[in-house]
Amino acid sequence: MSCSNPHLVHSKADIPRHVAIVMDGNGRWAKKRFMPRFFGHKAGVDSLVKTVLACADRGIDYLTVYAFSSENWRRPTEEVTGLMGLVLVAVAKYLTKLADKGVRIRIVGDRTQVSDKLRAAWEQAETLTRDNNRITLSVCFNYGGRWDIVQACRQAIADGVLANELDEDKLARYMALAHAPDPDLFIRTGGEVRVSNFLLWQAAYSEFVFTDCLWPDFGDAELDAALAAFARRDRRFGGVKDAATHAESLQSA
Ligand code: IPE
Ligand code: IPE
Ligand code: MG
Repeated sequence: MSCSNPHLVHSKADIPRHVAIVMDGNGRWAKKRFMPRFFGHKAGVDSLVKTVLACADRGIDYLTVYAFSSENWRRPTEEVTGLMGLVLVAVAKYLTKLADKGVRIRIVGDRTQVSDKLRAAWEQAETLTRDNNRITLSVCFNYGGRWDIVQACRQAIADGVLANELDEDKLARYMALAHAPDPDLFIRTGGEVRVSNFLLWQAAYSEFVFTDCLWPDFGDAELDAALAAFARRDRRFGGVKDAATHAESLQSA
């Protein structure tokens, strides 16, 4: 089942370099089918694999997805255990395919709280794909934007960076997503209009698209709708649309 109407193709110049997605709505997708939530998470993995390849096809260089938040530990133990197990299944099922398609995989988040098996699967995924350059998929797992800011500060302090030397550029180098530019387009599926502790630092000037589409239903049509919305946005980064014209009008005023 797909959610929304197809949208027009747009020019390469309008394609975001980095897309970030809060993949929300798996549980509700399963509930609608009278199935357990885990069924929705499994379908969510398939949706992720399709989406990363669709992004690569459209010339997007970086896709960053929110797979498990720092706060998702608050879920029932059986759901958390199911999600951890699903990562292992997903790596076994899809890693070779993604590697063959030129996807570079990075795992972003606090690895200290997960099992040795999971850490090993992630290391395998990162090692196997490290020389790929078609698209970089960053999977945020046990990740929170606040965790990231704190861990970056801790690393900077541990490196001996002095308070008066620390600035935005320097701190950014310690952030967990330092391998990627800031996201241009931030998509959240599942109908909630909130950030839920994702990319608090990096999304300072992202364009936001919220869709009611539940993550397992996300496909080409929804992606193209989000890209079309992005192409229509007027990004100013705090400046003015046409800086030269604005300066002239100020002079003549
Ligand atoms: C997102 O889907 C996946 C994870 C948070 C792991 P949800 O599980 O939050 O699904 P809903 O929001 O309850 O439908
Ligand atoms: C955000 O979704 C986290 C992920 C998609 C991994 P949640 O379902 O956990 O967020 P809230 O609880 O609705 O804010
Ligand atoms: Mg949710």
